[in-house]
Amino acid sequence: GAPIDIDLSKVASGQQIVVLWRGAPMLIVNRTPQALKTLQSPDLVSRLSDPKSSVHQQPPYAENWHRSIKPEYAVLVGICTHLGCLPLYKPNPDPSEPVPDWPGGYFCPCHGSKYDLAGRVYTSVPAPYNLPVPPYRFVNDTTLRIG
Ligand code: FES
Repeated sequence: GAPIDIDLSKVASGQQIVVLWRGAPMLIVNRTPQALKTLQSPDLVSRLSDPKSSVHQQPPYAENWHRSIKPEYAVLVGICTHLGCLPLYKPNPDPSEPVPDWPGGYFCPCHGSKYDLAGRVYTSVPAPYNLPVPPYRFVNDTTLRIG
């Protein structure tokens, strides 16, 4: 598939968009300052299976606590690493469906896997590793190119 360009000026803080690249959903989130703070909280990090993403290869520019080039923008492959369902964007814990000790992120409805807003998987869920980071770069301040 050819590379695709995404205009980030249309993605408000706290919002997610989904675009298709090579037939797969790519999740792009403009993370809030609060969400970025949560990603660094020792309490959250202690409950991740692989906080440094050592199991699954990822681009060198994602080898940091936010797993991205710019801290606010998450760019992730939106396919659950368990059996391939589509994880749902739940940036805040859902009061109608409480998941204990989970500050929100991605929730897979198929077998209950939980990820944080950097795609890092929680312990004690079926998914074996973090959501992959696709190849991407910024062509200018507000344009993201995947591929
Ligand atoms: Fe997501 Fe099984 S496919 S938890």
